Amino acid sequence: MKTIAFENKFGPWALVTGGSSGLGVGFAHNLAAKGLNVVLTGRREALLTEVAQQLEERHGIQTRVVATDLTSDEALDEIRKVTDELDIGTVISNAGVASMGAMLKIDADELGRNLKLNTTAHLRISHHFGQRLVERGKGGILFVGSMAGMQGTPLGANYAGAKGYVHNLAQALNYELRNSGVHVSVVAPGPTDTPGLNARTDIDLAKIPGPVMSVDKLVSIGLKGLAQNKPLVVAGLSNRMMDFMFRRILPRQTGRNMMGMMISKHAPRELKLN
Ligand SMILES: NC(=O)c1ccc[n+]([C@@H]2O[C@H](COP(=O)([O-])OP(=O)(O)OC[C@H]3O[C@@H](n4cnc5c(N)ncnc54)[C@H](OP(=O)(O)O)[C@@H]3O)[C@@H](O)[C@H]2O)c1
Repeated sequence: MKTIAFENKFGPWALVTGGSSGLGVGFAHNLAAKGLNVVLTGRREALLTEVAQQLEERHGIQTRVVATDLTSDEALDEIRKVTDELDIGTVISNAGVASMGAMLKIDADELGRNLKLNTTAHLRISHHFGQRLVERGKGGILFVGSMAGMQGTPLGANYAGAKGYVHNLAQALNYELRNSGVHVSVVAPGPTDTPGLNARTDIDLAKIPGPVMSVDKLVSIGLKGLAQNKPLVVAGLSNRMMDFMFRRILPRQTGRNMMGMMISKHAPRELKLN
């Protein structure tokens, strides 16, 4: 069902990075159901086209797809070729990847590529579209962070560092744009039911005890936070309780230690240092 107020503030077009899988597909459907047209980006063109067709059939909206690797120097130009003539009102900067395991066990080039996707891509997308949104005086940018970015997360060191960047970038931008009419939020998901969680070949993070959130729930929490212009949205009660314990009650390194113990338990021997 269309939500006119949302469409007026955040439409008529949304850009969703990582639109071929998981949370990106969920964001695209939610926004399309609110009446927004959607541009999907990702590397896998066939999947993007499939998602785009479903969006058009189910929600009667328009779509575009941009098949591009966000770690490449050309990515923003490729996205601009399609979006320069569209009135983009919402950007969901979502694409992200984690290579789990002890940092020294993971190839440095792979870590470098991940870092570029998890930090520089967010920077370039939000820098370009942030200017466009400020010029039109309304709209929003929602970054997708992670509970892993709330502290040093052992066996996910590079990922946690990058997500910490995303959290800080988004919260600072929320302040800088506070008088522009443009909302900026970052949503921090915990384990969420996507291929990014369930199809891992390194550490089976789905085995870590605790609730796994549905994509639909995470997406609606994130978009509600954006509509309310919340700088940081910690998704769900159990994540909020964990965040409160780790950041407000327990000593600073306790959260890191607990994450380290939980993840180590499910890590194969070859991905641990000791
Ligand atoms: N699922 C969870 O439990 C969880 C928890 C915390 C945070 N998150 C965050 O949520 C976001 C979405 O993750 P997900 O769980 O939905 O994972 P996913 O199902 O694996 O989807 C990841 C998306 O990112 C895109 N992507 C990956 N590398 C790319 C690249 N180099 N260039 C362009 N696009 C690329 C993928 O598209 P292509 O492969 O087609 O390029 C895909 O659409 C990520 O930022 C992740 O860190 C997820």
